[in-house]
Order: sequence, then structure tokens, then C-alpha cells
Amino acid sequence: MSYLASDFENVDGTHAAQKFTHCLRLLESLDFFQTYKQKTFDLLQLVEGETVLEVGCGTGEDAIALAKRVGKTGRVVAIDHSQVMLDQAIASTKELQLLIEFIRAEAQQLPFADKTFDAARVDRTLQHISEPERVVAEMTRVVRSGGRIVAMEPDWETFIVDSEKHAVTRKLLNFWCDSFPTGWVGRDLPKYFHHEGLTHIQTSPETLVIQQFDLADQVFDLVQTAHRAGEIGVVSQQEANEWLAELRYLDQVGEFFCSFTGFVVSGKKP
Ligand SMILES: C[S@@+](CC[C@H](N)C(=O)[O-])C[C@H]1O[C@@H](n2cnc3c(N)ncnc32)[C@H](O)[C@@H]1O
Repeated sequence: MSYLASDFENVDGTHAAQKFTHCLRLLESLDFFQTYKQKTFDLLQLVEGETVLEVGCGTGEDAIALAKRVGKTGRVVAIDHSQVMLDQAIASTKELQLLIEFIRAEAQQLPFADKTFDAARVDRTLQHISEPERVVAEMTRVVRSGGRIVAMEPDWETFIVDSEKHAVTRKLLNFWCDSFPTGWVGRDLPKYFHHEGLTHIQTSPETLVIQQFDLADQVFDLVQTAHRAGEIGVVSQQEANEWLAELRYLDQVGEFFCSFTGFVVSGKKP
């Protein structure tokens, strides 16, 4: 069974593409994602005719939004290392007559010359890469002087779930955080931008609150996280089951609560 925290690292190797595309489309439909994504598009300060790079494009919706901003004389290049994701992205943009080029590539080694783009954006992809700093360096390299770089990444230690079982909750949420190649990337992003010599660095938090168990389970894999943690002894299987039972009870009585924070960071190449 594929696992959202770690398997986005290698979608093509999981043979469960549907789970990943379903997850991305679900997130895309939530107001929280729409709102912060608009903010990242605005921070790119794109004008008609510019060339923009989208790193880790997933199913392609953000590339479409960028293409609309740069207009008919602009160009969007969207990369992802998953062919499954690129096929989905190509299918969803086929009819739209927008200038988007989808390329299979590793974010850590972008196949573009220095200063190719006016701007570059990455969204919830660095968390799945063990060397996120290298990606920020690559994005900086391929953007021209005066160009803009914008990233949004979660910090999974901001993930909170209300439960009376504090110790078990802490163990399970740390387990979820540590299942990502870089679960702390949110707090590290401003530092990476600084290391690359970017200027005008701005950082803002974006917090999502979910108060329905089923939706939270789809977004955060709660059931699978608890069962996995039970299987490998992070908590006992009984503790995992009791934790899930408590969350379902809280949901029934209208008191389920969970939340996480991601950080939008933007900067300018001098
Ligand atoms: C959580 S999805 C986010 C997709 C999209 N940015 C969005 O906001 O919907 C992460 C994406 O990063 C891609 N990815 C993961 N590691 C990558 C790498 N090293 N290079 C390029 N893409 C990668 C995955 O295939 C997946 O499409």
C-alpha cells in the first residue's frame, strides 16, 4: 500500500498512481490550497511574455495557472521526475492551447542553462527530496538576475492532532514527520534562500485546520500512519487502534481537530 509521506519520492515505483493523483486533486479542491497557491503566483510577479519554471509539477494545475499569467507570448516549463505525473499533466492541459512544456527531470539537476528563466516556483515537493538545498541552488542558477523564486513547503512538526493520549499522539506525529525525506524543510527554507544569496526574502505561514476525520485521513494518511507505527513498534498495535478509535469518536461528537502549517518563502536573485 502506497504511503503519502514517503512514496511521493518515487511515484512511478509504487504502481499506485491513482492514489497520488487522487490526493493532489483533492488538495487542489480545498480552499486552503487555492488561497496559498494564489499567493505564490502573486509573489512571482509575472508579467506577460515571461518564461517561468515549475519544479515538481504533479498533475499540472499550477502550470496552467502560470501559463495564464504569462499569456500567449510567455512560456511555462514544468518538470517532474515521475512519468505518471507528467502523463496526467499533459492529459489535463491538452485541450487548453497553452504554451506549457512538460519535461521529465530531477529537481536536483535541472537540465537548463544558467539564467534561462524569469522566475521559478516549487510547491510541496522539497519535502520529498533528501537534498532540498540543492534544488534551491539549482532554481537560483537557472533564474536570471532580478528573477524571482517562490517556494511553499510544510514543516511537519507543526502537525497537531487533538487527543487525550498525549504521549501516543506525539510518537505518531513524529513518526509521520520523520517518514518524509525532509519533514522539517518548512523551517529551513528561509535559510536555504539566504545561503543562495537571494535578497528581499519574505516568509509567511499558511495554516490548515481540518475538523473532519475522513478528510484529515485522506490528506494526512492517519489510519495508515497509526497502523504502520503499530507494526514497527513506534507504539503498540493496541495504542494505535485506541488512538484511531478516539479520533473517530471525537469526529462523531463534532470535536475532531487537526492542523498543520506550511511556509511560503520568496526571494529575488541579485
Ligand atoms: C506532493 S506532489 C506536489 C505536486 C505539485 N507541486 C502540487 O502542488 O500539486 C510532489 C511532486 O514532486 C515530484 N517529485 C518528487 N521528487 C522529485 C524530484 N527529485 N525531482 C522532480 N520531481 C520530484 C513528485 O513526482 C510529485 O509530482
